[in-house]
Amino acid sequence: MSKRKIVAGNWKMNLTVEEGVALVSGLINKGLQQKVSNTEVILAPPALHLLTLHNLVQNSAIKLAAQNCSDRVSGAFTGEISVNMLAGAHIEYVIIGHSERRIYFHESNISLKDKVDLALEYGVTPIFCCGEPKEIRIDEKQDRYVFRQIEESLFHLSEEQISKVIIAYEPVWAIGTGLTATPEQAEAMHAYIRKELANRYTTDTANAIPILYGGSVNAANAKSLFNQPNVDGGLVGGASLKVDEFYQIIQAAQ
Ligand code: 13P
Repeated sequence: MSKRKIVAGNWKMNLTVEEGVALVSGLINKGLQQKVSNTEVILAPPALHLLTLHNLVQNSAIKLAAQNCSDRVSGAFTGEISVNMLAGAHIEYVIIGHSERRIYFHESNISLKDKVDLALEYGVTPIFCCGEPKEIRIDEKQDRYVFRQIEESLFHLSEEQISKVIIAYEPVWAIGTGLTATPEQAEAMHAYIRKELANRYTTDTANAIPILYGGSVNAANAKSLFNQPNVDGGLVGGASLKVDEFYQIIQAAQ
């Protein structure tokens, strides 16, 4: 598949604004002043950093994502940030349903469905995360598990709406553990997700939806993962915090 690749960096709860500015400046100086051929680069810093970094990435290859958004538009929800606020700040993407949000903040497939709907309504592209925990993988029930996640949060969408979604497959057992899924394991799940998308929608639509892999992606393993036919790029955690390594991962997507 020769469609665009996407390399996204999820900083999680790391880096001060100053450190974030240094990291982004480092990436821009390395070669992200202008578009990298056929690869989209997205960074998801903490929400506090978004406005400062938005100014910094103007006219560069870097786009920004929020790591989360509320499932409501506005109101008395202390500490939350709504997707219309993101849209108002010209933030183009939002990660929805990261496993850390599901595990630590008890986000359910149903509340994530509402977040996806709001993101699409306000024109912010959802990067929807799915992926099974270790015990489900050991029981070999990962297909069924991931199917339910995408069915319950995405399959109510119209064909036009689903075409605007990015999916990230992030097996929980591979996140922050150094235990990467093998390229074969990643490819098998991505092909499965695409097959289910084609069953629900059309083959053309399914083929056009980017499916990123996340879970201990680094400069050494990125190429073998990105070379898989159904792997359209990566969602990178720890390795996105280092200029040289993240830049190498971006290059591995070429
Ligand atoms: P790591 O790359 O640190 O395993 O994190 C992956 C991830 O959760 C990206 O969203």
